[in-house]
Amino acid sequence: MPLVPLHEIYADANKDYFAIGQFNVNNLEFIQAALEAAVEMNSPLILAASTGAIKYAGLNYLVAMVKAGSAKMSQRVALHLDHGATYEDAKMCIEGGFTSVMIDGSHLPYEENIALTKKVADLAHQHNITVEAELGRLGGIEDDVKVDAKDANLTDPDQAKDFVKRSGCDALAVAVGTSHGAYKFKGEAKLDFDRIEAIKKLVGIPLVLHGASGVPTELTEKLTRFGGKIPGAKGVPDEAYRRAIKNGINKVNIDTDLRLAFVAAVREVLATKPEEFDPRKILGPGRASVKEVIKQKMQILGSAGRG
Ligand code: G3H
Ligand code: 13P
Ligand code: ZN
Repeated sequence: MPLVPLHEIYADANKDYFAIGQFNVNNLEFIQAALEAAVEMNSPLILAASTGAIKYAGLNYLVAMVKAGSAKMSQRVALHLDHGATYEDAKMCIEGGFTSVMIDGSHLPYEENIALTKKVADLAHQHNITVEAELGRLGGIEDDVKVDAKDANLTDPDQAKDFVKRSGCDALAVAVGTSHGAYKFKGEAKLDFDRIEAIKKLVGIPLVLHGASGVPTELTEKLTRFGGKIPGAKGVPDEAYRRAIKNGINKVNIDTDLRLAFVAAVREVLATKPEEFDPRKILGPGRASVKEVIKQKMQILGSAGRG
């Protein structure tokens, strides 16, 4: 079927308290892995491209590959812009075939974040396209938006209520303790579940958890075994997904886990088969490994069986 606006998938997720994984893609192999996972798990799917992904692969290639791959599927697939930084980024994707856009004004002063989000929402809604905004600041690095971890501050529930009402966004990314990348927590993983619940009660709309990769030890150990270096990496435990979803999260953003899975598998081939130089035999295991990670996430998040 054609790509669907993300709010059509959110309607079920918000009503039935499950989440859909957002899986970031940059190339053919990741797109194929995610689409195959959605078919095998009968799950709705959100494929996301950052502005970095668009620069790398080209907007026309990404949209064409996603459309070609999903055309014959019965599961719902949305194509989403991740961390759009400007009105022009969002406009390019709205006009280019995406069905959801994130406008990330979280680094701006509050009123400017509202004004930018509203401008994007006004355009997107004319095209029946979903808009995600962000309030509060995550630690780590967000595409072109750099945020010092020390500056990170969590989303205020009352401010979120005002923000959603005035900006017209359809979904809200909240800062509740996660950060992007493979190094999320120094000690124990800590998420502010009460804050998620408080925000949800006041805004009602789908909430989004960024920086949500699990960074599982099986992947970091495999990466390390075949020559990678990722000491001290730590992500979001599976139990935290369940609690976050119970309290109102409906979209869970995963990029790092897919990168780890892909690179660990590619490293394994390169390390164990030095005579191999057929790219398909090197990238193919990477694609298979990404697919497995996505299938596991669909199960944990509760989107499996709801295609
Ligand atoms: O949140 C950021 C995503 O992981 C995208 O990363 O900007 O390197 O494509 P990227
Ligand atoms: P991770 O780095 O935890 O995969 O988060 C990705 C993300 O939030 C994309 O928007
Ligand atoms: Zn993010």
